[in-house]
Amino acid sequence: MRVSELIAAARKARRHAHAAYSNFKVGAALETADGTIVTGCNVENATYGLTICAERVAMFKALSEGHRKFTRIAVVADTEAPTPPCGACRQILWEFGGDLEIVLANVRRETGRHQLSALLPLPFDARLLK
Ligand code: THU
Repeated sequence: MRVSELIAAARKARRHAHAAYSNFKVGAALETADGTIVTGCNVENATYGLTICAERVAMFKALSEGHRKFTRIAVVADTEAPTPPCGACRQILWEFGGDLEIVLANVRRETGRHQLSALLPLPFDARLLK
């Protein structure tokens, strides 16, 4: 699949964002090893702390549908500067996706590509739970 397709899916998912409090809408599109795209958007809550980011929605949707191997994730927000995944999302993406490629974009153009291992150096993970 072309990266432009993944970004397009994230832009489309962003339209479903429930960002009533921050007005900051984010879309994500996760590519599985078999080429399926699973999308997510941020979903906010009046208690604020229960808000969930687009990246985690996409990952939890994918896991709940039986997907276990992932290659990359596109994240789209309407910002000139790149919008990278937050710390909590980096941890969840690492747990289930390993060293994913993170493709960042805004509503007009791609804004960067990063390996998750560069965004989350020295991760805590299951290998340490001996
Ligand atoms: N948000 C995401 O969905 N993904 C990111 O990568 C950054 C932040 C959401 C959480 C919240 O709903 C809003 O953006 C503002 O932080």
